[in-house]
Amino acid sequence: MGRADSEQAAVFCVENTLCLRVIEDEVLFLMKTEVAAEVKAMPINSGLEEKDRREIAESLSRMMADTYTLYLKTHNFHWNVTGPMFRTLHLMFEEQYKELGEAVDKIAERIRALGFPAPGTYQEFTRLTSIRLDEGVPDAEKMIRSLVEGHETVTRTARETFKVADRAKDEATVDLLTDRFQVHEKTAWMLRSLLAKSAMAMP
Ligand SMILES: [Fe+2]
Repeated sequence: MGRADSEQAAVFCVENTLCLRVIEDEVLFLMKTEVAAEVKAMPINSGLEEKDRREIAESLSRMMADTYTLYLKTHNFHWNVTGPMFRTLHLMFEEQYKELGEAVDKIAERIRALGFPAPGTYQEFTRLTSIRLDEGVPDAEKMIRSLVEGHETVTRTARETFKVADRAKDEATVDLLTDRFQVHEKTAWMLRSLLAKSAMAMP
C-alpha cells in the first residue's frame, strides 16, 4: 500500500487502482482509472488526448453507475409494485428497466473505446452513483416519485459529462449523451404525468 499526504487530505492507494482519501471527517473514494491492457499494448491515436479520454471515461463511469442503479431500482419496482395501477406500472417499469439495461451496455462500451476499464461491481457502482436508494418497498406513488428523481439525477450527471466531452470535442460521447438526455427527460415527464393525474404533483 502506497501513501501520500497533502495539506488537506491523506490518500491511501491500493495496488495503484483505488485511492481512499480522508478529508476532515469525510471519507471519499476516488477512482484512479488504469489504462486498459490493450491500450498499453498499442496506444490510442484517435486525436483525443489521454488526459481528456481519462476525464471523459471517469465522468462516464459516474453516469454508468447512476444508470445501473436506476436500472436496478426500476426492476425492483417492476417486481414489487402493488395497488390499483399495478398492471400499468408493472408494464411501464418493464419497458424502462429494459431500456436502461441497454443504455448501461452502450455507456460501458464507450468507456472501453476511450481506452479504460468500465466499472462492473456493486462496490464501484455504490461508490460512484448519485442515485438515492429507497428504504424497504415504497408504495406506488413513492416509487413514481423516486424514479422521477432518479431520471433527473442521471440527467444532471450527464450534463457534467457533456461539459467534459464537448470541451474535448469527443463527438461520439456527445452523441451518446444527447440520446440519454432525451430518454431521461422524456421518462421523467411521463412518470411525472402519472402524479399529476392523481393530483399528487411534484414541485
Ligand atoms: Fe417481469
